[in-house]
Amino acid sequence: MERKIRVLVAKPGLDGHDRGALVVAQALRDGGLEVVYTGLRQTPAQIVNAAIQEDVEFIGLSCLSGAHNELFPEVVRLLKEKGADDIIVFGGGVIPQEDIPFLESQGIKKIFTPGTPTQEAVDFVYQHAKGKAMTFTKPPKQIAHIGIAVKSIDAALPFYYEQLGLQLLGTEVVESEQVKVAFLGIGETRFELLEPLSPESPIAKFIEKRGEGIHHIALDVDNIDERLANLKANGVQLINETPKDGAHGARIAFLHPKAAGGVLFELCQYPADNGGQGHE
Ligand code: CO
Repeated sequence: MERKIRVLVAKPGLDGHDRGALVVAQALRDGGLEVVYTGLRQTPAQIVNAAIQEDVEFIGLSCLSGAHNELFPEVVRLLKEKGADDIIVFGGGVIPQEDIPFLESQGIKKIFTPGTPTQEAVDFVYQHAKGKAMTFTKPPKQIAHIGIAVKSIDAALPFYYEQLGLQLLGTEVVESEQVKVAFLGIGETRFELLEPLSPESPIAKFIEKRGEGIHHIALDVDNIDERLANLKANGVQLINETPKDGAHGARIAFLHPKAAGGVLFELCQYPADNGGQGHE
């Protein structure tokens, strides 16, 4: 992700006007993308070959001749044929609104109609480049635990014992967070009751600001380092850019709640011998 995102801008077909394509190419460059421009009158095969050779993530097609319904799908088809269908294709030019559903059904990810601000193309590329980067990471395995902020574990436990019938698996003090944690098993996952041990504890500050309640959701992941690097490269705000030690020998890191609409997510990687299961 250190290198810039690469976009091939191409003009398939026979029309001889490339002003529109050049304007888009310049806008993409100004937006920090690396743009390769193929020039006029390219066949779909030439475009696909150039895209593979130049190792681009996106192809932007511009067509004014009216042949977009043949040329655009042909580019997508050839990409598939060459095993390069991870390259995202978008298009613009003189394209009637009523052709858009057909083009989208053929795998063209987005059509920009005349008059669309060029910034929208830049935004489109960034949004979809992010999505692509994330697909390299396996999804989280399960919810590792749900963290619940309480003023007092002793006061909170009877509800979990007596009303929900859950079992206490153990308690632990996590010095780095200045919290005492009580683990209650529920299926493969757990509730963690978090009691602050000092006013400096993040849990104390949370309770002061928002009261007792759900504090965070922890996701059980493989490969926390790669995932954090990926999130960072994608511009996701992190509280911890590198993992720290959590309960049960896990390596943990928190995302910033701004990254997820106010939800605090924790990534949790358990030692391999534990497999992330059976936390007793
Ligand atoms: Co946690």
